[in-house]
Amino acid sequence: MALIEEIKRRRTFGIISHPDAGKTTLTEKLLLFGGAIQEAGAVKNNKIKKSATSDFMEIERQRGISVATSVLAFNYQGKKINILDTPGHKDFAEDTFRTLTAVDSVIVVIDVAKGVEEMTQKLVEVCRMRNIPMIVFINKMDREGKDAFDLLDECEQKLGLKTIPLSFPVGMGYDFKGIYNIWEKKINLFSADNKQKVSEGIEFTAIDTPELDELIGNKAADTLREELELVSEIYPKFDVDSYLKGELQPVFFGSALNNFGVKELLDCFVEIAPQPQPKQADIRLVDSKEEKMTGFVFKIHANMDPKHRDRLAFLKIVSGTFKRNANYMHMRLGKKMKFSSPNTFFAEKKEIVEESFAGDIVGLHDTGNFKIGDTLTEGELLNFKGIPSFSPEHFRYVNNADPMKSKQLAKGLDQLMDEGVAQLFTLSLNGRKVIGTVGALQYEVIQHRLEHEYGAKCSYEPLNMHKACWVKPDDEKNEEFKEFKRVKQRYLAHDKHGQLVFLADSAFTIQMTQSKFPSVKLYFTSEV
Ligand code: G4P
Repeated sequence: MALIEEIKRRRTFGIISHPDAGKTTLTEKLLLFGGAIQEAGAVKNNKIKKSATSDFMEIERQRGISVATSVLAFNYQGKKINILDTPGHKDFAEDTFRTLTAVDSVIVVIDVAKGVEEMTQKLVEVCRMRNIPMIVFINKMDREGKDAFDLLDECEQKLGLKTIPLSFPVGMGYDFKGIYNIWEKKINLFSADNKQKVSEGIEFTAIDTPELDELIGNKAADTLREELELVSEIYPKFDVDSYLKGELQPVFFGSALNNFGVKELLDCFVEIAPQPQPKQADIRLVDSKEEKMTGFVFKIHANMDPKHRDRLAFLKIVSGTFKRNANYMHMRLGKKMKFSSPNTFFAEKKEIVEESFAGDIVGLHDTGNFKIGDTLTEGELLNFKGIPSFSPEHFRYVNNADPMKSKQLAKGLDQLMDEGVAQLFTLSLNGRKVIGTVGALQYEVIQHRLEHEYGAKCSYEPLNMHKACWVKPDDEKNEEFKEFKRVKQRYLAHDKHGQLVFLADSAFTIQMTQSKFPSVKLYFTSEV
């Protein structure tokens, strides 16, 4: 197949949700449709447990599993679909944010009973900032939950989405009768007796036919007619372009557990979801269909075997074809590299491949050459932008607990930070090191991995900080900036890339600082 054809058939996306909304279940059902797995439960058994646990075995297990499920690929209706796993656990939220830089679209899963929850809000906000096309799947329709219109409103209010239902539920919970597929003008009946059976939709071009009453009963049929009329009055007509621009979000209803409404979602997805998109580099926009290979590393994963400190760097191919054993330029190091065993992912298996195309993810074995955000090209001097670091929410001083192993500690910290496990700040005043994380679980992960993989020991000391703000003065030389540095010197630090960071102890401090030093801009994210 020609390069362009290969690229055009790729759909790379992520599923985002608040934990427990049904992301894993939906992923598994999508894989079943793609024939990538044969039985339900295959992904589920591997599920990353959500409870915050201090059991190290659990941490290890999670790391292993997330390699296995980092990318799940399958073919469906001639399309090559890559699902990028986004950890649901809030302590791994930063990993999820970074993964979102490698997707071309997302599916947002919402629990019908719980509605829009906190993690969903955060993740959707990141997608909205990047105009990523989103499809919403309202899950667990077999349970009692919120009214469909109320939920659509909630998506608009809390997520800032412009929703348009492409399917509509007939009842819910105990009275759940099925889904009317507005997209295909079909009704699918839900049967509680045979939950796993996917009924072929029954076509109803005209909704006022008495056959509908026979099928679902007069009351449900009348309600559905009224609701569909309301839908056509309230919501705009669906238009693929607006969806692709991130201006309109189609909504589907269903039950992932019962495999209901999932096929409709997938069928619409393969039809409308975007193919690999162009990506902005520092010097130009790179189109996915360009022949020369370019790509960037969005995730680094330590392998399970602590004795071999090798890692897997996940490269999103932005353009062209990635070939095994070809020479590529590692832009940050300015050196040529080739990869004899690039992995691709199919369903849950990792295998070595000769060629991968824009839109695909390849796993590259790494002995410490890669950092998150690194670019590979065929020689062109360009760097992809836009892998953000978000302000951590927990801060602790890190101390060396074994003076004989200070080198090991430095190396371990360095590599773990490259993997994006946490962020390291060095205080300007005294050179003390501070580790910032999104969740408290990371401190245990770091301590455990330093000991087992690097033979180093660390201890922590609490540091009461609210946020890290990246500092960008309008003018480095002006008096206001000098004054800012003088007054705040105790709270200034540098991140791993040498960027100036202000550690603020409260939201109030940030507010005060901003009004006192208006020309010194403070940001909660840094784009590496
Ligand atoms: P997550 O990855 O978003 O965290 O959610 P996950 O798929 O693990 O689903 C969370 C729980 O919700 C699971 O139950 C799952 O079976 C259930 N679930 C998912 N989809 C549906 C649905 O359509 N209807 C209903 N009624 N439940 C659904 P669990 O008890 O936590 O796990 P398990 O014991 O079933 O494995």
